[in-house]
Amino acid sequence: MTTKYDRIGIGYASRRRPDARIAAHIASALGTSRSVLNVGAGAGSYEPEGAFALERSRVMIDQRSPDRAPCVQGSATHLPFRSNSVDAALSVLSLHHWDDPGAGLREMQRVAERRVVLLTWDPAVSRFWLVKDYVPEIDAIDQEIFPGMTELEAVLGPCQIRAVPIPHDCCDGFLGAYWRRPEAYLDRSVRHSISTFARIEHVDESMNHLREDLESGIWTERYGSLRDLEELDLGYRLVIADATRGSTGPK
Ligand SMILES: C[S@@+](CC[C@H](N)C(=O)[O-])C[C@H]1O[C@@H](n2cnc3c(N)ncnc32)[C@H](O)[C@@H]1O
Repeated sequence: MTTKYDRIGIGYASRRRPDARIAAHIASALGTSRSVLNVGAGAGSYEPEGAFALERSRVMIDQRSPDRAPCVQGSATHLPFRSNSVDAALSVLSLHHWDDPGAGLREMQRVAERRVVLLTWDPAVSRFWLVKDYVPEIDAIDQEIFPGMTELEAVLGPCQIRAVPIPHDCCDGFLGAYWRRPEAYLDRSVRHSISTFARIEHVDESMNHLREDLESGIWTERYGSLRDLEELDLGYRLVIADATRGSTGPK
């Protein structure tokens, strides 16, 4: 079966390189977990050594370097692993693509003995200049596909939620990565690695608007002060759940 990432994932690994500062946040959330299953693993960013991986798209699996963990092709909603077979289940910027995020989260909780760790985006924190002023269609889509923190807790039980501020020179090219480098969004190859752009119809018009505002100085007038910041909270969150608990109480 062909998946969305078989289409949009070509060349992904060259633009979506793991950022060391984000990796440190994820490592801290995984704590002392020794065996980790990375769900929606893509090319293997942020995967700890010795992890196992599961990914739906063949194009993404083929971009994994040979020294990466073994990767099973499958879906988050039906994990082909025994219950309590790993210390922690991890998923990085993937659950908003799943057909049934609730089912996938319950699966992560089933296979993890101790902890479920998600890097996701909180739709309640919607304040990115690119989305607000230039591509509001992205917000409409993201509000629909990203589960809110309360929805996550309804499945996973009480979670620890940590903000992950995005460094100004983030090398993992997701949507918010270039908040201090506005010119980057004008580059088609940058946008190609950001899945939501593939769902927007009038991207060229939006990018012309951004180009004009950069050339005229309007962008700098409105947002130039961002250039003084080293990192920015755009709503990316680490969600850490105790796998022994869930919506239905202790396992
Ligand atoms: C934005 S990428 C993130 C990849 C990787 N975690 C990273 O941080 O670079 C989202 C990934 O989730 C995968 N994915 C989407 N739906 C999935 C599903 N139902 N089960 C497993 N993986 C899925 C996609 O194929 C894609 O590789």
